[in-house]
Amino acid sequence: MAFWHRKKRPAAGAEPDLTRLPRHIGIIMDGNGRWAKKRGLPRTAGHAAGAETFRTIAYRCRDLGIPYLTVYAFSTENWKRPVEEVSAIMDLLRKYLLEALEKMEKDGFRIRFFGDLEALPPELRTLCLETEETGAAVAGAKYQINVCLNYGGRDEILRAARAWGRDVLAGRQGVEDLTDEVFSRYLDSRAVPDPDLIIRPSGELRLSNFLPWQSAYAEFYFTDVLWPDFSPAVLDAALVDFQRRQRRFGGV
Ligand code: IPE
Ligand code: IPE
Ligand code: MG
Repeated sequence: MAFWHRKKRPAAGAEPDLTRLPRHIGIIMDGNGRWAKKRGLPRTAGHAAGAETFRTIAYRCRDLGIPYLTVYAFSTENWKRPVEEVSAIMDLLRKYLLEALEKMEKDGFRIRFFGDLEALPPELRTLCLETEETGAAVAGAKYQINVCLNYGGRDEILRAARAWGRDVLAGRQGVEDLTDEVFSRYLDSRAVPDPDLIIRPSGELRLSNFLPWQSAYAEFYFTDVLWPDFSPAVLDAALVDFQRRQRRFGGV
């Protein structure tokens, strides 16, 4: 049993209560590299396997009836990796986005991207923008996937602050009128409820710049499972654990 759990984990195979599901789950899709290394494969193979897991888990969330899923795919800090790994990830995203997301839109998902798309390779950026446009056209899509690409929570807050500042200078916003709610409208996550549950696989106990503003009152679930091995059963275990928490939001 991992030390960060004060309470006993639910029994394996326990099923979540479908009437008390989180509205929004965030997942830090971590552990691809270690998964590949364990098998003597290149790290890129781990990213490819992780992309498949993303698909499985997105459909599982939809089937359970969870309306929002936000996944961390590439951070503002991931550019520090060797250029070969970065370009392999970009390649994978380009190919993967094309087929997976098109299919997902047909299957009733709306896709949005969080992060600064400006710095992405132009072809990938165009693909993201096109995907978002068609997504917006999917009338009545009940399930929304937010893919965090070149995303960093601090960068998101800074971009929002700049946009708000420009609106102040243009007379569209007043400094004294700035509230939590007004500022939230400038974030990438505008119009998306805050995540109720944040899941991080791979054994790391940190946020790594994932949704710091939005996760102020989120519940956290950590597991040693590496992302490519993450299965619907692990998701169920996270949901059962989540349902045992008492959320107080500062009240009693
Ligand atoms: C997460 O897996 C995917 C990205 C950050 C792009 P990692 O590549 O971080 O895998 P580990 O943490 O090295 O195992
Ligand atoms: C977080 O994982 C980013 C993504 C999963 C996309 P990292 O592997 O980059 O995080 P650190 O470096 O372990 O904090
Ligand atoms: Mg990692």
